[in-house]
Amino acid sequence: MASETEEIRGVGHSVKRVEDDRFIRGAGNYIDDIHLPGMLHMAILRSPYAHATINGIDASKAQALPGVIAVVTGELMAQHNLAWMPTLSGDTQAVLATDKVRFQGQEVAAVIATDQYIAIDALELIDVDYGPLDAVTTPQQALEDGAPVIRTDKEGQENNHIYDWETGDKAATDAAFAAADVVVSLDTFYPRCHPEPLETCGCIADINPATGQATIYMTSQAPHLIRTVFALVAGLPEEKVRIISPDIGGGFGNKVPVYPGYVVATAASLLLGHPVKWIEDRSENLISTGFARDYHMSGSLALKSDGTMLGLRASLLADEGAFYADAQPSKFKVGLFHIVSGSYDLPATHVTAEGAYTNKAPGGVAYRCSFRVTEASYLIERLVSNAAYELGMDPVDIRKKNFIQKDQFPYTSSTGFVYDSGDYQGAMDKALDMIGYDDLRKEQAEARAQGKLYGIGVASFTEVVGAGPAKDYDIIGVKMNDGAELRIHPTGKAILKISCQTQGQGHETTFAQIVAGELGIQPEDIKVMHGDTDNTPYGLGTYASRSTPTSGAATAMVARRVREKAMKLAAHLLEVAEEDVEYSEGRFSVKGAPDQVKTIQDVAFAAYTNFPEGMEAGLEGNYYYNPPNLTFPFGTYVVAVEVDPDTGVWKVRRMVAVDDCGVRINPMIVEGQIQGGLTEGFAIAAMELITFDEVGNAIGTNFMDYLIPTAWETPKFELGETVTPSPHHPIGAKGVGESATVGSPAAYVNAVIDALWGAGVKNIDMPVTSAKVWEAIEKAKAGVSA
Ligand code: CDP
Repeated sequence: MASETEEIRGVGHSVKRVEDDRFIRGAGNYIDDIHLPGMLHMAILRSPYAHATINGIDASKAQALPGVIAVVTGELMAQHNLAWMPTLSGDTQAVLATDKVRFQGQEVAAVIATDQYIAIDALELIDVDYGPLDAVTTPQQALEDGAPVIRTDKEGQENNHIYDWETGDKAATDAAFAAADVVVSLDTFYPRCHPEPLETCGCIADINPATGQATIYMTSQAPHLIRTVFALVAGLPEEKVRIISPDIGGGFGNKVPVYPGYVVATAASLLLGHPVKWIEDRSENLISTGFARDYHMSGSLALKSDGTMLGLRASLLADEGAFYADAQPSKFKVGLFHIVSGSYDLPATHVTAEGAYTNKAPGGVAYRCSFRVTEASYLIERLVSNAAYELGMDPVDIRKKNFIQKDQFPYTSSTGFVYDSGDYQGAMDKALDMIGYDDLRKEQAEARAQGKLYGIGVASFTEVVGAGPAKDYDIIGVKMNDGAELRIHPTGKAILKISCQTQGQGHETTFAQIVAGELGIQPEDIKVMHGDTDNTPYGLGTYASRSTPTSGAATAMVARRVREKAMKLAAHLLEVAEEDVEYSEGRFSVKGAPDQVKTIQDVAFAAYTNFPEGMEAGLEGNYYYNPPNLTFPFGTYVVAVEVDPDTGVWKVRRMVAVDDCGVRINPMIVEGQIQGGLTEGFAIAAMELITFDEVGNAIGTNFMDYLIPTAWETPKFELGETVTPSPHHPIGAKGVGESATVGSPAAYVNAVIDALWGAGVKNIDMPVTSAKVWEAIEKAKAGVSA
């Protein structure tokens, strides 16, 4: 109960995460923890080839193995019109291959057995007659004349071209380049990497043949959208489809798409009348589900010789894999890449993009990223640093010269975003101060004199999160709005139901804090429910750091709506007019007579026991939030490295990260998000990579080959903050979940290039391995431009 002495632990308090109690006891409830009576197990046979015709499948030996209930092939799926499914970007994707396989690891058949091990053993007994075809492993190759056509299934598709897209103002940008003193260009590749959540993807499909009720437990970041997709694709009545996403062991974008395994398990349950469980192993996850990035980027900056930026050109070549399946707003073909002008007051920008099919797994997911903002942030921040060196400027000074100034907000960018608020200079000053920038530069000069390679990298990123305003943002036509429902019980305890889906971010704690801040109920008295489409309001899910800007805002708004009724109840209890009641921290008091007071608990009890004549009982509400704008978190990251000139090994000496995500609901959770994001950013910059050989074999499909950093490799991060509230968000918060992953890779690479620029090295594509660094140094020595 709120008392005069007890502070309400609402927004701004580092409340310990309530969910950790069950997680650290090993009492979480993940998909693989769920066992249903009569449940069967499914395993998937995957293609060893990147490109091959399927001439025939003989499943008789597998079928005969004791314990095998059924073998599902593309042919069987086709009989039910389920061999193909739509993707979130309006393409089609094979559920089980019928005509040919188009990437290594593609789903070819599935075995349903009484036990998971029998299902896996049976896969080896399936004979598939493949006719190998030439594989296409890069988008450049894909677009060459005469390249093998991958999507022969698509009528009229005579090459591997998927889309062209452009945005910005070409004429104004051309004029800016014509007027420039200097043009600085950078060609770079943001390689394919993987979100690699700790828990792989999986589901249990449970269709009751008697009632037609389909309950699907699924590792999904967007259960409501998936329900709608299932209803549309499978023709199931939507009220009979219930998607339950229980505890999720990390998503990072990997758990947004609909995967073939979900569809086959659902079809199998429908046909067999039993629940069917499918869980990927690690290699299946890395080889076949939602990769990220894979963008070839060219950028050019038009500048005056004093460093003033005049214009920006960016062109992209996107490797989409065999099926175009990016999950992103329908209106924007390359997500929110057009935020590429970043933190700079750039008068003209022009972006062009082309997408191509290749013989690789589909994906392009928003891996801790707001739909391709990561690639955009990397390109501009690398380009700006290179421009500084070309002009003989300090990378800090060129940024300061071109930052959008504090008094320019709300700022309309040259590609049409309206940035809500910012203080880029403030965040940078703080970061420079924390790391001692001037001293570091002196130290660098001294080290250089002794033949050592020290480097200092800066990145001042601007993020764009919170999709989104209904007028611009939808996925397959469904507007990206989110709901919240709040019910206060007679004893003053509450249940909050939210549409977003936690995958470890601590929503059960922070969303309760938002209600606590609005109504004065302590967070531990508020149960937060999510992840069950029968029991939570509709919404588009959690990715792209959108939970706080959308569901968080809906939560504040529903709490305010409930407070309006609470004011009426309080007036009734206090026997005064409603205008005479004021609210603060869970207490409703009479204006001018602060000792006449009723707590939220008194009011909640009255809502069921003593409400005025003509008023409905109860204290509850719901709210669907359509954000007026996106939110634009930002920050400056500064990294100091030392590069060994003989081996190319580089080590992080210092890493300072100053983030501004507006008002912090739970500062401890925010710092955890940033620490995790910085680790992922370092991983991408230094070591993570999925690559392919010339015949399309995926390399990097297990944790021996796909290198993720352990505590040993991970640098120490020093965190700082500035607070610039979002003016339109009800509590002034911006998203933060992805900022560090978006902003930091450029800072690490800039630091290595800062060390090597003097030696003639202008670029090294990620991951910046010691072998690549050594090679770049050797090439530069030999006079070959890097
Ligand atoms: O969508 P996602 O949850 O991944 O990202 P987010 O909205 O940025 O939130 C990540 C976590 O940080 C959540 O628990 C948020 O409530 C919390 N957060 C916060 O406490 N304050 C902010 N200004 C932003 C996020």
